[in-house]
Amino acid sequence: MKTLKTFFIRTYGCQMNELDSEILTTQLQKRGLKKIDEEKKADMIILNTCSIRDLSEKKVLGKLFEYKKDKKDKIIGICGCMVMNQKEDLLKKFKYVDFLIGTNNLLDINKVLDDILKKNTQEIKIDSNYEIGLEQFFAKRTNRVKASISIIRGCNNFCSYCIVPQTRGREVSRDYNSIIKEAKYLADLGIKEITLLGQNVNSYGLDKPKWKILFPDLLYMLDKIKGIKRIRFMTSHPKDITKDLMLAIKDLKKVCEFVHFPMQSGSNKILKAMRRTYTKEHYLQKVNLLKSLIPNVTIGTDIIVGFPNESDKDFDETYKLFEEIEFDIAFIFAYSPRQNTLASKYKDNISNNLKQQRLQKLLKLYHKILKSKYLKLINTKKEVLVERLNKDKKSLKGRTKTFEKVIFPGNQKLIGSIQTIKIEGFNHQTLKGSIVTKN
Ligand code: SAH
Ligand code: SF4
Ligand code: F3S
Repeated sequence: MKTLKTFFIRTYGCQMNELDSEILTTQLQKRGLKKIDEEKKADMIILNTCSIRDLSEKKVLGKLFEYKKDKKDKIIGICGCMVMNQKEDLLKKFKYVDFLIGTNNLLDINKVLDDILKKNTQEIKIDSNYEIGLEQFFAKRTNRVKASISIIRGCNNFCSYCIVPQTRGREVSRDYNSIIKEAKYLADLGIKEITLLGQNVNSYGLDKPKWKILFPDLLYMLDKIKGIKRIRFMTSHPKDITKDLMLAIKDLKKVCEFVHFPMQSGSNKILKAMRRTYTKEHYLQKVNLLKSLIPNVTIGTDIIVGFPNESDKDFDETYKLFEEIEFDIAFIFAYSPRQNTLASKYKDNISNNLKQQRLQKLLKLYHKILKSKYLKLINTKKEVLVERLNKDKKSLKGRTKTFEKVIFPGNQKLIGSIQTIKIEGFNHQTLKGSIVTKN
């Protein structure tokens, strides 16, 4: 019989996956297992996977091939989006993998392990929908400053390029009482910042019309919780960003002035083919309204370059809109066709070379925008929530309300406090400064 005392989890993909790994860890700790950081020494390895782009899956496949040689008595399991996407095929391809657990079955992990230990079989647990209330997906947290809370899972949008609706199912909002309960629990632990997570947080409550609680209402409720100092949320679909939401951000002291609502492209032709359901004019209108209501707001975006049939002119429109909006945070991706999506039926007709050229061009623009923004921040003062010791072990690292990273000299004891920092310089995407006053 295999021994099972320690485990190691490797997490790929988005914050939702990070949270899912914490949920799995909590379940495994319930059966007395110890989480360790050394993959080689662990009795069990779990890969919590992502399918968003081909490269995300390739990284996992590379790891799985690597494990083949020192599998021995180890238990190897795969969770996350690749399980939803490839299902049994994964076990056929990797015969030495012991189990697959889908994104809706995190709470079945202990039952699956019991079966493996008893019967030494390959186990699969994949349901396409949630059969139990989301409030039961509870995670203990290791970080004592900030934590994520899942408020809505799944996605109903079916953007033509995206695999997430296949891997995460349809939207299910979590009961607001359970969200508030978890936020209070986190506040009692001393957590200062919560991030509300969902593929599209702005749809919160739309699937439960009887509740009469939409996303801005939830923000108002959470803002009242003592001990929580900051509230963030992501991601927002541009079509669902309402004026009510903007007013809530403006009104509520704890809600951070940072909205990540991916534009994806600046060309109406491409937006339509992506099924994003807004035009560039609509998007710009929302950006302008947001900037006029909340002048210091930070705006984040994701961009996909090289979508099928993206011409030089289409890309140029994205470039110009990016330049006009001056995004503060941007993640830029090369289009990657995904199985069974609508866009996978179009020919992936932009060469890798051209995708990379476009990506680099946008990155260059983004860095130029950041540089001029950071230059203007020098000699200003910012409120920074101290999150942790920096890698050099000498300075501290934290974030402003508007999400800029800041490092500064200071004592570890300040972790978890909010400090006023005078900005003195910057290096790439990190501001540098020093403490002005102690709160
Ligand atoms: N729910 C979030 C995004 C989830 S995926 C939202 O809609 O905002 C994160 C980002 O990955 C997307 O915003 C998109 O820019 C990118 N992405 C998704 N599918 C992709 C694909 N097939 N190829 C390249 N990038 C992709
Ligand atoms: Fe994917 Fe679109 Fe849903 Fe975001 S909104 S997860 S990009 S389908
Ligand atoms: Fe990846 Fe799944 Fe998140 S595909 S980005 S881990 S929802």
